[in-house]
Amino acid sequence: MATQETLTPSGDGTDKAAKPADKAPLPVIKRVGLEGVVALDSVLSFIDGQVGELIYHGYDIKDLAENTTFEEVAYLLWKGSLPNRAQLDELNAQLQAERELPPMVLDVLRSVPEDAHPMAALRTAVSALALFDSEADDPSPEANYRKALRLTARTPTIIAAFDRLRKGKEALAPLKRNSTAHDFLYMLNGEEPGTAAERTFDVCLVLHAEHGLNASTFAGRVIGATLSDMYSAVTGAIGALKGPLHGGANVEVMKTLLELDRSGKSPEQFILDKLAAKERVMGFGHRVYKTLDPRAVILREMVQDLSEERGQRQWYDYGVEMMNTMEREKGIYPNVDFFSASVYHMLGIDMDLFTTIFTLSRMTGWTAHLIEQWSANRLIRPRSEYTGPRNLKVVPINQR
Ligand code: COA
Repeated sequence: MATQETLTPSGDGTDKAAKPADKAPLPVIKRVGLEGVVALDSVLSFIDGQVGELIYHGYDIKDLAENTTFEEVAYLLWKGSLPNRAQLDELNAQLQAERELPPMVLDVLRSVPEDAHPMAALRTAVSALALFDSEADDPSPEANYRKALRLTARTPTIIAAFDRLRKGKEALAPLKRNSTAHDFLYMLNGEEPGTAAERTFDVCLVLHAEHGLNASTFAGRVIGATLSDMYSAVTGAIGALKGPLHGGANVEVMKTLLELDRSGKSPEQFILDKLAAKERVMGFGHRVYKTLDPRAVILREMVQDLSEERGQRQWYDYGVEMMNTMEREKGIYPNVDFFSASVYHMLGIDMDLFTTIFTLSRMTGWTAHLIEQWSANRLIRPRSEYTGPRNLKVVPINQR
């Protein structure tokens, strides 16, 4: 069991930074992995992990996936309401205008080794963006909003440029007249996407935009709460998202699906063997959802449609049988990364780019959280329980 809880009076006076100055010492609560701990208030999203509900600022994720675009969701997260037509047009124009990269950042991407981890390249390029943004250290709400826009506009350009450069192709300039989904797929593939591919990708972006105090958002808010800048905070968040227990899981899922495809085993047997070997099956399980992740429900339907349309029915069939076996054997359900992997694969996107696409979308959630953090900032600073030795005496170095 990974979670432990102890509740004891602190008594030692070392928790002054964690409590308002005029109050009595707070009790010390220990929960490994911070499971179940509520660290702050947020208006951005609500997750009910028992029934499988996800809400962005009042709107159910299914409603948003069916009836809005990524840019409308970005506006909702940043501004707190869905845009009207004029507001959306203005946002689209601003994003299009900001999509191009500073030439020096393109140069950074040109010098990245071709076998670099895409998330490492993205992390480096996003960090480099700060050096060419004269507003990087301007903490005003207006400048922070413009930086949120700029980061969201430029992340797709970085990912596409990195991928083309590592393949020996020239990076393509953004068309600057379309949606984020359209411009990204164009810059990646060198041809404009069809309406169906653009919409499928756009829905994926809607589904990944925001998800409460997950590891990367928390990491970003911890950095933001020190009153560091937005670039530093999202660079740290990218580092957290890279991990295979978080956003990196979608790459691991695709590796697993391809391994299953090569194995000749049934999906059920494949899962049983993995569980017998005490392996984790990537794309399953969640810290908050104890039932089916509502985003996985929508993505499963997308996999079904795409796999039939493209004559690649195996990805849907594998997914459903793996899901049923995991539910029966472990009572564990698929998360957002499980079905999104096959969607990206069928859209022809290279497997190792999957987590960068998650980043592209989550940039909106991270920046919205930072804006929220700075609207009522308090340093985020938990404590650790000391389990090391005491009363040691330094032995002079030449006697050790
Ligand atoms: N495959 C097999 N078993 C899993 C599992 C998985 N994907 N996820 C959780 N479990 C099991 C653990 O082995 C553990 O069993 P035990 O109590 O018998 O030891 C139990 O479920 C609880 O797991 P734990 O790691 O403590 O839960 P957590 O809340 O800390 O972890 C995740 C949540 C997401 C890290 C975890 O489910 C996981 O590693 N999933 C795979 C990676 C992934 O898809 N990440 C993307 C998340 S959106």
